[in-house]
Amino acid sequence: MAIRTVVVCGDPRLRERCEEVITFGADALAEIQQDLMDSQQHYDGAGIAAPQLGIQKRIIYFGFQNCKRYPNRAPIETTLLINPSYEPLADEVDYAWEGCLSVPKMRGAVARYKAIRYTGCDMNGDQIEREVEGFHARLVQHEIDHLDGILYIDRLLDTQLFGFEDVLDYASLDRYLLENGLNN
Ligand code: NI
Repeated sequence: MAIRTVVVCGDPRLRERCEEVITFGADALAEIQQDLMDSQQHYDGAGIAAPQLGIQKRIIYFGFQNCKRYPNRAPIETTLLINPSYEPLADEVDYAWEGCLSVPKMRGAVARYKAIRYTGCDMNGDQIEREVEGFHARLVQHEIDHLDGILYIDRLLDTQLFGFEDVLDYASLDRYLLENGLNN
């Protein structure tokens, strides 16, 4: 078990494009999986990407039964996903507050595709393919962004819809959507 320190925003390692995994199997990947699991659990995350632990590989881990950081979200099967990609199933987007272990204590409103199909491999190189929507879709889009050096703060709906999680007016997103003729 190894809880690693999460790399935070400002560190150039979060801005790199990560490398494809070419060697599969437990010998190569079990330790990375364990570190991702242990670190996510320790920081109460919903998902985590390898570069957040300073590992510059295209690997994400996500899922939870209960997530303290997102208490009202339905459980998501815990998944290690290697060399992941996704495609939207429709143009529709939804809007929600998002956070990131690499941007501690902050939240910002981000538009994401409502429904996606994602693919990738498990530790043994076997294909995983799922069609998901809502928070599950949002989470995977957020984590895959990390592999391309993109943070959610690059995608803020409006710079005013961003702030410290303990003082934010969460209803401001609903007002913004109403004022701009957008809806979830
Ligand atoms: Ni993140």
